[in-house]
Amino acid sequence: MATRTRSRSSNHSSKGNSHRESSAFSWGESAGPLIGAAVAGAALGFAANFGRKFLTQAVSGVSGDWDEVLSTEHDLTEAIFDKMLATDSSQTWKRSMLLMQLTHALDNHAHEEETIVYPALREANENVSADELNKEHGYIKTFLYELGQMDSDDPSWLEKVREFRDLVVEHARMEENEVFPRFKQAMNEEQNAKITALVNKDGFWMS
Ligand SMILES: [Fe+2]
Ligand SMILES: [Fe+2]
Repeated sequence: MATRTRSRSSNHSSKGNSHRESSAFSWGESAGPLIGAAVAGAALGFAANFGRKFLTQAVSGVSGDWDEVLSTEHDLTEAIFDKMLATDSSQTWKRSMLLMQLTHALDNHAHEEETIVYPALREANENVSADELNKEHGYIKTFLYELGQMDSDDPSWLEKVREFRDLVVEHARMEENEVFPRFKQAMNEEQNAKITALVNKDGFWMS
């Protein structure tokens, strides 16, 4: 895998946007206990999109801002990685199911960020952060491609998953601890509600 470079800046500013939308599908902190059950679905042979559908339907009506929704999705993704790392080379079917679920979760999550959050970041003059995060999504897709090409009993499968998990965790921490809080602080209430509604709507239709 090619070497990644990191060059984020902290430039930002707030731009007004008076458009308001209301969210019909909100998530909240109470989603946490549901993550384990959603991940367990893969092991039991449910469809690869079970986790997201389940979470979306189960916590509908509970409030949560866009950054909380995305954090919950990060947690779900990390839980899938942990399930993958707990497998051995004899569990080829389980590994394939978990990879399908991981692919679905990351695809949906990337769609929300790449079509809503990162464009909004650029609108707030956070171009460098948006471009860097978007570039990392490219490497995440590369890992999905590489894992898809590997036999699930390949001796280096676990090592590849571990390397993949490290990248995703580092990326998620950068979003959760640096870029998103800075972006949210620069928003007014109306902008926050708009991004939340758009992320929830996208997540619902993509699930
Ligand atoms: Fe991201
Ligand atoms: Fe993310």
